[in-house]
Amino acid sequence: MERTLVLCKPDAVQRGLVGSILNRFEQKGLKLVGLKMRKFPDEVIQQHYSVHADKPFYSALVGFMTSGPVVAIALEGKDAINCVRGLMGKTNSAEAAPGTIRGDFGLSFSNNLVHGSDGPESSATELALFFSEEGDLIDWTPDVTAWVYSEEELS
Ligand code: RTP
Ligand code: MG
Repeated sequence: MERTLVLCKPDAVQRGLVGSILNRFEQKGLKLVGLKMRKFPDEVIQQHYSVHADKPFYSALVGFMTSGPVVAIALEGKDAINCVRGLMGKTNSAEAAPGTIRGDFGLSFSNNLVHGSDGPESSATELALFFSEEGDLIDWTPDVTAWVYSEEELS
């Protein structure tokens, strides 16, 4: 099982799409293990996107991500990182496939509704950044787990 970080960006919160986005992940069978709404400080967002620090769009990206509240979501499941990236769709919402979150709800490159960790290292770093306090992430077993996966997948 893997864990991954999703951020509902300020455009998703402003447009009232948080529930619809969370629904996609829940319906897929991914387990919700953390949920937090904050207006995150500049330093947290700067650190989160530090890989893009030398890119021309970095300051606009940080400005956008601190322009309003963000909802951070921690999800757990088999191949959760790739699975979430697939559900999100391509970075440019205008090109994202129908059926994906960006494909169904957006038209913009920058206001693209969601962030998802892009690998095991970034997911570990990002989860530690956004869910840094004791008790932020919850270990629990949903009763439906035995119906979401086969016995071999769970062993
Ligand atoms: P994210 O990190 O937000 O999940 O998005 P991503 O992996 O699909 O895309 P990434 O390449 O990591 O870029 C991070 C965010 O920066 C904005 N961006 N703007 N103007 C530009 O050329 C440009 N390139 C990237 C997007 O909002 C993208 O989600
Ligand atoms: Mg990225």
